[in-house]
Amino acid sequence: MPPAETPDILLIRQTRPDVAGRLAERFRLHRLEEAPNREAFLDAVGPRIRGLAVGAMCPIDARLFDRLPQLEIVASFGVGYDTIDAGEAHRRGIVVTHTPDVLSDEVADLALGLLLATLRQIPQADRYLRAGRWREGSFPLTTSLRERRVGILGLGRIGRAIAQRLEGFGVRIAYHGRTPQADVAYTYHDSLLGLAQAVDTLIVAAPGGPGTNGIVDAGVLAALGPDGIVVNIARGSVIDEAALIAALQAGTILGAGLDVFANEPQVPQALIDLDRTVLLPHVGSGSHHTRAAMGRLLTDNLFSWFDGKGPVTPVPETPWTGQR
Ligand code: 8YV
Repeated sequence: MPPAETPDILLIRQTRPDVAGRLAERFRLHRLEEAPNREAFLDAVGPRIRGLAVGAMCPIDARLFDRLPQLEIVASFGVGYDTIDAGEAHRRGIVVTHTPDVLSDEVADLALGLLLATLRQIPQADRYLRAGRWREGSFPLTTSLRERRVGILGLGRIGRAIAQRLEGFGVRIAYHGRTPQADVAYTYHDSLLGLAQAVDTLIVAAPGGPGTNGIVDAGVLAALGPDGIVVNIARGSVIDEAALIAALQAGTILGAGLDVFANEPQVPQALIDLDRTVLLPHVGSGSHHTRAAMGRLLTDNLFSWFDGKGPVTPVPETPWTGQR
């Protein structure tokens, strides 16, 4: 039995055994998904909960905070936290942490893989061979990364890691974000439309949330032109999915490589039916190596917090001031 002062932690959609194991060594753990009646469970343990360990893309809002009056910290698994109301957490003096940096290289690697797969139709060529069609003739020629102008929407940690990789491919790189960044040589565009007009390949690496909802719209897609390629490794919400489908169907743009969707794990049948799409089930950070590092950082945040040393990687909305 843990001693009485052992903090109570609630796990929500957080199923990694290494995370739960490490937390169980130090805390009294409660698992929301194992409760037969969620409301009764929250009534019983909610008043004791001081920390949350949550899976990525898990909705955490004022209604839940109301049930957890002693809550001090939300430790989220993932860099994106658009489903967590961090502003409300801040108002209540609750710190939110995420897992930046440890996944940037993995997601950037995947972005480049998805870009090349989309341009050179790698999955389509694989399907062609498996269907025995090579004997009938060569696979059709594809578009190319050569001479492309690549625009990155969101030059944060992951956007930068993508840009660094693209430098090795000898393409021109431009970007759009809230502010120009002094320490990069890539061309800055102060509007997304301006970026789309200047490039033919758009890689979406901007965070999700109200500020970016649907900003890759019909006008932005049309501006990429008929050779246009869109790659999204960020959040499905950043692209107007209906507009993307319409643009692909009409040939307004050429193709799309998508690791994320507006309503995961639902993927519109229209995207599946299109031959010029490469579709992945949100696997950007999904390697053993990187998910383990994310799990360690999540638990490090909780350990550090309850050791009185503050969070390791708080989100900007809930900066650590050394006081509660
Ligand atoms: C998720 C992600 O963490 O970090 C993010 O924001 O979207 C991913 O890395 C992953 O899907 C875990 O479920």
